[in-house]
Amino acid sequence: MSTDRGVFLSVEGVEGVGKTTAIGMLEALLADRGIETLRTREPGGTPLAEAIRGLVLGAGAEEPVTDTTELLLMFAARAQSVAHVIRPALEHGQWVLCDRFTDATLAYQGHARGLPLRRIYELAEWVHGDLWPHTTLLLTARAETVAARLADRAGGPDRIEREPGSFFERAEQGYLALAASDPKRYRVVSTDGSLEALRADLARLVDELMAPQDSETT
Ligand SMILES: Nc1ncnc2c1ncn2[C@@H]1O[C@H](COP(=O)(O)OP(=O)(O)OP(=O)(O)O)[C@@H](O)[C@H]1O
Ligand SMILES: [Mg+2]
Repeated sequence: MSTDRGVFLSVEGVEGVGKTTAIGMLEALLADRGIETLRTREPGGTPLAEAIRGLVLGAGAEEPVTDTTELLLMFAARAQSVAHVIRPALEHGQWVLCDRFTDATLAYQGHARGLPLRRIYELAEWVHGDLWPHTTLLLTARAETVAARLADRAGGPDRIEREPGSFFERAEQGYLALAASDPKRYRVVSTDGSLEALRADLARLVDELMAPQDSETT
């Protein structure tokens, strides 16, 4: 849940589905409504956490990264991000827009790699206790939509992006299972449509999120 003041929003979904695009839109929609936001990403957000991101995504084939190493590095980066970025921002009343959080670990290291979800929840409890996003936006799109977007991109894939399509299908199924198990926290939005359609969906979400806050202050 969110802390007393700020609201914690995470954005999830497979590579190229539109997370960065959606976060930019959310930032603008919230700014229009006078809300101060802090935008961050995982793994990353602090110099050390960004260095861990480089290690976990950039490792070469000369030393295979074990699934356990990958999992622990994700949580090592998250511990830095929660302590130095997310909690302080929420305590200052900012809305935090986080590009991936523990749900990504559950989808990728859990559902896609096959590590036990129980272990991941144990680490989550250790690293961030009861701090979970107030709302998690799960972006989905048809596989062809995502493939076309990724094909248009400059730059090569990182270590995880080089996994086969079946890996991302498992991650996507994992995300959908998580969303189904927690419909109050998750909002599933398709990005198959236009950017305008996405902006309209996000504007509705922001207005809904602001409504209870308005009533609390009146
Ligand atoms: N309806 C839509 N929603 C989101 N993105 C769209 C849409 N239509 C077209 N796009 C385009 O698709 C691309 C989505 O890329 P984006 O970088 O936002 O994805 P991402 O999920 O952040 O990827 P990554 O996981 O690699 O960070 C952008 O170029 C965006 O302009
Ligand atoms: Mg992105």
